[in-house]
Amino acid sequence: MTATLIDGTRIAAAVEAEVRTEVARLRRDGIRPGLAVVLVGADPASASYVGMKARMCEKLGIHSLKLELGEETTTDQLLAEIDALNADDAIDGILVQLPLPPQVDKKAILEAVSPVKDADGFHSTNIGSLILGYDGLVACTPSGIMEMLRRSDVALEGKRAVVLGRSDDVGKPMAMLLMHAHATVTICHSRTRNLASVAREADILIAAIGRKYLVRRDFIKPGAVVVDVGANRITDRDEVIELFGAESPRIARFDRAGYIWVGDVHEREALEVASKLSPVPGGAGPMTIAMLMRNTLEGARLRRGLACAESA
Ligand code: GUN
Repeated sequence: MTATLIDGTRIAAAVEAEVRTEVARLRRDGIRPGLAVVLVGADPASASYVGMKARMCEKLGIHSLKLELGEETTTDQLLAEIDALNADDAIDGILVQLPLPPQVDKKAILEAVSPVKDADGFHSTNIGSLILGYDGLVACTPSGIMEMLRRSDVALEGKRAVVLGRSDDVGKPMAMLLMHAHATVTICHSRTRNLASVAREADILIAAIGRKYLVRRDFIKPGAVVVDVGANRITDRDEVIELFGAESPRIARFDRAGYIWVGDVHEREALEVASKLSPVPGGAGPMTIAMLMRNTLEGARLRRGLACAESA
C-alpha cells in the first residue's frame, strides 16, 4: 500500500480563508479581533514561531501585538503583563509562547490568562470544558488535527484511536476530542509496555511523543491513518540521506538551512503501510496556526456574547 499524504498546508489555507471572511464580517460591525503573542527570552525557534503567528494575523485582518520580554523576566513581571492584556479591549486572544525560562512559574502564567482570551486553550477552565463537552477554546494542535481528519473524510466513530504521548497541550486534549468523536481511545506514554503492538491496534494513530522516527513499520496496522505531530531537528546530513534516500528533495533543503525537521514517524516506512499520512512538515504544524487564528476569532465572539461559528 502507498499512503496518500494529508496536505495540512492546503487544509490550513482553507481554514484561514474562512477566518479571513469572518474577520471581515466582524470588522464591518466595528469589531476587530486581536491576538497578543508573548515571547520571553530569545530562543530562535520560539522567535520564529511567534513571527509566523503575527504575520498570519496581518494576512487575515486580525490585529496583532507582539510582546518581547527579556530572558530574566520574573513570574511577577509576566503576571503584570498578562493582567494588562486581560484588561486590554483590543485583545481577544493571548498566547504565551512556550517553553518559558526556568525561573518563570508556567502554571501560574497559564492560569492567569483570562479563559475567554485563552487562544491556546491551556487554561484549566478550558480543559475542564473540553472534558465535559462544553463550549470553550480548545488547544490548537489537537483541534487542528481533528479539522484535518474531518476534511480528509476520515471516519472516527467506533474506530480504534491510539495517541502516543500524554502531554497537556497535545496528547490529553487529543484523546478527549477523539473520544467525543466516538473513537475508542488508548493513550500511550513512556511507561507503556509493548508500545508497537498497542500502536498496531490503531485505525488512527497519533504520534506526539517527541522521539524522532519512533514509529516504524511494525507500529502501523496496514491501512491505518497516521498523524505525525513530532518536531525533531536533524542536523546530520548522513542521517537525512539514510532516512529519505540520496535523491530526496530534503537533501537540498538541508543544504540550504543546515537542518531539517522530522516527526516521530519514519515517513518512508509509514507510506508503505498506512492509508493516509499527515507528514512533518506540512501537516499538524500549519493547522496549529490556522486554529490559533480561529480561536482568536472565537475569543472575539465569546467575549461579546456572540454565537460561535459552525466549523465547515
Ligand atoms: N510552543 C510550541 N508550540 C506552542 C503552542 O502551540 N503554543 C504555545 N503557547 N507555545 C508553543
